[in-house]
Amino acid sequence: MAWSFSSLFLFSFFVFSLVEGKHVLEDGYEVTTVVDGHKSGLNPHTVHALPGSSNMIVLDSSGSTFYTTSFPMSVDSVINRFAGDGSIGYLDGKAGNSRFSKPRGFAVDAKGNVYVADKNNKVIRKISSSGYVTTIAGGISNEFGHRDGPAQNATFSSDFDISFVPQRCCLLVSDHGNEMIRQINLKEEDCLQSSHSNLGTYSLWSIGIALSCFLGVAIGFASRPYIIRHTGRSEPPLVHRDMEASPNQIGGTSSDLLLLH
Ligand SMILES: *[C@@H]1O[C@H](CO)[C@@H](O)[C@H](O)[C@H]1NC(C)=O
Repeated sequence: MAWSFSSLFLFSFFVFSLVEGKHVLEDGYEVTTVVDGHKSGLNPHTVHALPGSSNMIVLDSSGSTFYTTSFPMSVDSVINRFAGDGSIGYLDGKAGNSRFSKPRGFAVDAKGNVYVADKNNKVIRKISSSGYVTTIAGGISNEFGHRDGPAQNATFSSDFDISFVPQRCCLLVSDHGNEMIRQINLKEEDCLQSSHSNLGTYSLWSIGIALSCFLGVAIGFASRPYIIRHTGRSEPPLVHRDMEASPNQIGGTSSDLLLLH
């Protein structure tokens, strides 16, 4: 009964979507060509902006090469080779001499490091913001699979991509072949933006101020008894005289006297 009801529901939903299926065309957008691969000799497969700069990184998958260009982009924009020497392979080291095997996707962290889903090489590579290529996962295992654990021993399917999650400082691997999402936590320093270090300086400055305030109060407290004792000894009637000068204080003393009685 329940089954026939749900299939009836699904069927009517199907018919409904066939009948009611329509396209909603929202106006107000425009397309411009800003990089023409025929002119600049590259075939862009993936592009990501570098955080905190006007630069972006373009991956030419078929050429196994990464390029950089910057906003404002136009077909005359200067495009520089960033990593990959143009040959297919697996070579770490200086970005200009490094080799990749037709990677399809990559992610960029908050610091500008690039993480490459180099699936044909069965590894995840890192191009540091200073331009040095390393292997961060799969470097030891060198096989397909779905092993978790220490990243160099881990394995991935032959079809995966990666994205960066700034809030969690990690990479997420969408491991399509394994039908899994895998997580790789990054190092803390890879997620610190320049704005954060400014914040750090600011914090240090505030701590300095707070410390001097505290020291000032502490020194005040430490020297207070001495000062009172000192004035007390040299001029004992000072406090007494002030009390007598004020009528309220005289009242106070009389009530004290009353209390004494
Ligand atoms: C990782 O692989 C290396 C080399 O095969 C091995 O010596 C090591 O025990 C492995 N580590 C783990 C945690 O599997």
